[in-house]
Amino acid sequence: MRSMIAGLAIAFSPILIEVATAAEEASPEAFNNACRTCHSWKEGDNRLGPNLHGIIGRKAGAAEGFGYSNAIKSSGITWDETSLDKFITNPDSFIPNNNMKPFTGVADAATRKQIIDFLKTNPN
Ligand code: HEC
Repeated sequence: MRSMIAGLAIAFSPILIEVATAAEEASPEAFNNACRTCHSWKEGDNRLGPNLHGIIGRKAGAAEGFGYSNAIKSSGITWDETSLDKFITNPDSFIPNNNMKPFTGVADAATRKQIIDFLKTNPN
């Protein structure tokens, strides 16, 4: 019996490792630390900031029921990885006069990538 369990563990371990790696890449931790105070990713769930459900590919200023600044509404942006990265590096230099305050940006590129990878998974 014991050897059978050991055999199973060996047979399944490559799968377990793969799952762990994927989860690590899209970890919510960076998002939770930097964004979650103000943003939810759930559809319709606007907080201090608009919900970020499906934000990649979404037009700026499009979360229903959220009162955006004119700066965001008239930015003409459709969010993709590049624009998101620029925005969260330094919101005010990318879209001057936006209202995402007092958030001043995430300086670390690896952390920004983690946040964006997480938003791409678009969990509900
Ligand atoms: C202090 C609260 C706060 C924090 C922290 C914050 N945001 Fe925001 N965010 C806002 C507000 C408020 C707006 C709306 C800004 C406006 O209307 O000018 C906004 C807008 C946005 C938008 C534009 C959404 C749209 O529908 O066009 C994106 C994208 C965004 N935030 C991403 C992030 C990410 C990613 C983080 C973490 C790195 C973050 N924000 C951290 C408050 C915050």
